[in-house]
Amino acid sequence: MTKPRIVVATRLPIAVTERIERDFDAIIPAHDLDGAAALRAVIEQQAEGLLVSGKTALNASVIGQFPKHLKVVATCSVGFDHIDVKTAQTNGLIVTNTPDVLTNCTADMAFLLILAASRRASEYERTMRQGWRQAFGMGELLGRSVSGKTLGILGMGRIGQAVARRARGFGMSVLYSNRRRLAPELEQGAEYCQDFRTMLPRCDILSLHAPSSPETRAIINADTLALLPHGAVLVNTARGPLVDEEALIAALRSGQLFAAGLDVFCNEPNFDLRFAELPNVFLCPHMGSATEETRNAMGFRALDNIAAVCAGKPPIDPLWR
Ligand code: DGY
Repeated sequence: MTKPRIVVATRLPIAVTERIERDFDAIIPAHDLDGAAALRAVIEQQAEGLLVSGKTALNASVIGQFPKHLKVVATCSVGFDHIDVKTAQTNGLIVTNTPDVLTNCTADMAFLLILAASRRASEYERTMRQGWRQAFGMGELLGRSVSGKTLGILGMGRIGQAVARRARGFGMSVLYSNRRRLAPELEQGAEYCQDFRTMLPRCDILSLHAPSSPETRAIINADTLALLPHGAVLVNTARGPLVDEEALIAALRSGQLFAAGLDVFCNEPNFDLRFAELPNVFLCPHMGSATEETRNAMGFRALDNIAAVCAGKPPIDPLWR
């Protein structure tokens, strides 16, 4: 049986690469391909499938030039803001993502950031690496407790719900803002706030889990940051463009925010280096899904989607039906 011919546009974990070598006809890339390079490779290799990650932007022009033999683009991510989905749909190209498999891992990362930002982990770590040597007084370098506080969640999809589950373990009250109210069995005691802005003054900590879209672009800005209580904590494991970074830096400098935990930025990997100078920010390089287990599961899921489509079956995770 001939193996499906695919283009792999992103570097993958070893276990996933081994499966590609076994089950697909593909060249394993030494570096990530941008949209134009992925297009060239699809044409040269007459590929039926294209596997990308968030690092390969597929705009309308690239998608418009994909040849008819390309049946499916599988992104190894839950987010798909790097793909012009409208053009793909118009052109009859199937696009899939990898939901579910990264839910817990990303929620863990959100919690890591909630704790690290609230408890000044970045400053403690730096103190130790610089040799410590001078004991702190009882009133020095104090963080903020997380237990018993109110957590606001923007975007109560799978990951938002998983963060809420973790928050309950910390005795936190959970508020959420979402396009739709969830069924009570999914809410599990979280309080729905129809108006995002009226939720903000009640949040000790705000965690972002909404997709990047024109509606959510810079939803966290000078106005909305000012609605949070003075000394709130902001955590973003969703997408950088949800936040107006200029306003965020100002809020961190003024003390309007006690701290922030950030895994995502407007410009990755060339993030705004002013963040690195702020002591009250805990920074991660977009690592929400970065465990061996989860990255393998994401890669396998993307390959399952490609294999299904190439075998003439429906995709498992189509972005639309
Ligand atoms: C996703 O899956 O969208 C995460 O941000 C990892 O890229």
